[in-house]
Amino acid sequence: METQPVWHPRDSDAEVGDVWLSSARIASCVDELGAAITRDYGGRQPLLVGVLKGAFVFMADLLRAVQLPTEVDFLAVSSYGASTTSSGVVRIMKDLDVPLAGRDVILVEDIVDSGLTLAFLLENLAARGAASLAVCALLVREGVALPAEVTSRLKYTGFALPPSWVVGYGLDAGERNRHLRSIHAYLPPDL
Ligand code: IMP
Ligand code: MG
Repeated sequence: METQPVWHPRDSDAEVGDVWLSSARIASCVDELGAAITRDYGGRQPLLVGVLKGAFVFMADLLRAVQLPTEVDFLAVSSYGASTTSSGVVRIMKDLDVPLAGRDVILVEDIVDSGLTLAFLLENLAARGAASLAVCALLVREGVALPAEVTSRLKYTGFALPPSWVVGYGLDAGERNRHLRSIHAYLPPDL
């Protein structure tokens, strides 16, 4: 008989707090997002563009929840380095492999926090001639006034996140805890 652990014990357990979103709730949300994309993009072949690294777990599940001939590509950006506060500086560390001209592009983000990363990326990608450009984000930080171009493209969202750091399901704190199946509160080691 198979059992599914809530998380695999690793050396960073002291940093991992209570479950904020269980893997089951995440899974049903991702299924709903996939169904919505399937409805909205019927007859088309959307290109899912994942923002590395945080979005890679969400991207893998979302891809399998969309019932369309879907392609994937990835971008890597660096906005925070190892810190948990926004530097406001966004750099493309790895660009896309495919041209966007004529494509129906869905940018896939783990979390929209200040929206700085997305605003930068949307401006950059919008100049590449895509047929359409939308954003799918699993988490959106609540109570944040997002840039207008982000609000207008943010078509698919999962959960509103209170203003505290979370880890798991691809989300990290200093590159740790991405492996957790659920999303947990993060307990900084110095507290
Ligand atoms: P923004 O530019 O402030 O919207 O930054 C968004 C990025 O910051 C996300 O794609 C994440 O990589 C990272 N981020 C923001 N909040 C959290 C969090 O609570 N846990 C882990 N990563 C986060
Ligand atoms: Mg990210």
